[in-house]
Amino acid sequence: MTNQTIIKIDNISKSFRRGFSGNDIKALTDVSLEISSGDIFGLLGPNGAGKTTLVKILLGALSPSSGFASINNFDVADSRARNRVGFLPENHRFPEYQTGLQMLSFYGGLSGMSSSDIKSKSTEVLRLVDMAKWGDTDSKKYTKGMMQRLGLAQALLNDPEIIFLDEPTDGVDPIGRREIRDILKSLKSRGKTIFLNSHLLAEVESICDKVAILNNGILIKVGPVEGLTTIKPTYDVTCTELTDENISAIKEKFQFATITDNKIEISFDNEEKINQLIDFLRSSSISINSIIPVKISLEDSFMDLIKGDRAAATDQAAAANDAEAQNE
Ligand SMILES: Nc1ncnc2c1ncn2[C@@H]1O[C@H](COP(=O)(O)OP(=O)(O)OP(=O)(O)O)[C@@H](O)[C@H]1O
Ligand SMILES: [Mg+2]
Repeated sequence: MTNQTIIKIDNISKSFRRGFSGNDIKALTDVSLEISSGDIFGLLGPNGAGKTTLVKILLGALSPSSGFASINNFDVADSRARNRVGFLPENHRFPEYQTGLQMLSFYGGLSGMSSSDIKSKSTEVLRLVDMAKWGDTDSKKYTKGMMQRLGLAQALLNDPEIIFLDEPTDGVDPIGRREIRDILKSLKSRGKTIFLNSHLLAEVESICDKVAILNNGILIKVGPVEGLTTIKPTYDVTCTELTDENISAIKEKFQFATITDNKIEISFDNEEKINQLIDFLRSSSISINSIIPVKISLEDSFMDLIKGDRAAATDQAAAANDAEAQNE
């Protein structure tokens, strides 16, 4: 069974005015996306890609220049879209003179919760983010990771169904990141939908069900993490010893092989070819030490996509310049 669409983004564009003289900044161009209930969705992109702008539009803090977006079938311009939504903004700051519990009480008050509700919910969410012992401590004593966990507790206070997190692990060390990742997984297991903005690819790779890559305001890829790229299977085959003769014979038969220090790196269109290479090596009496599939990380594929996109944009600009020069 596929889960229902809970967030729908339909052809959203957003431009910002750059003052009197300059051109407008196109922060988003025709972005369309659907996010399913219960998923952890990761929006990836380099700095300035438009991630925060998209989240602000979904939260009704910015209105789109064109297009439409809805949460739970309510237009995002309608406050009912945010009835069950929690938000952890990027680079958030809490006053350091407040304890974790005082801070939660302040935010609970802002969202109209009763004081008895605030009390019981605060204890519950602090437990959820593993901060139960720290509620009465001034937040100036918190580490960056604890501050982010407190931010998460704030986002969870109103028992949201959807949680928007804008760079939740920015500036947090690897242990703190791991803790935050574990919390997100446990929220998913409780049926929450999570919309995560991040430029930390490894993170997104390890927890997200679906990923979209945004570059210069344009969505360049959407899909499940595994299917993000059509990667050819690649193997490192290490042999005991390869003579010059062996190397030429392998290169003649397997033209795309790269051979360095007795190691053959080879990518295939189909998996059967690795068996052909093994047969060939064995029939040439070459002894094989190891065969290791090379894992291509989301980071590699992300870099390739962004580089490809930038190269295409540069080519287009060059072609436009050429055309302009010819017309002069
Ligand atoms: N209020 C604003 N006024 C003018 N330009 C803006 C405004 N907000 C964002 N921008 C511009 O829109 C583009 C997208 O910015 P945005 O903050 O959405 O990117 P981002 O992907 O969140 O980047 P980061 O990874 O650095 O957080 C950038 O060029 C930014 O300078
Ligand atoms: Mg941002």
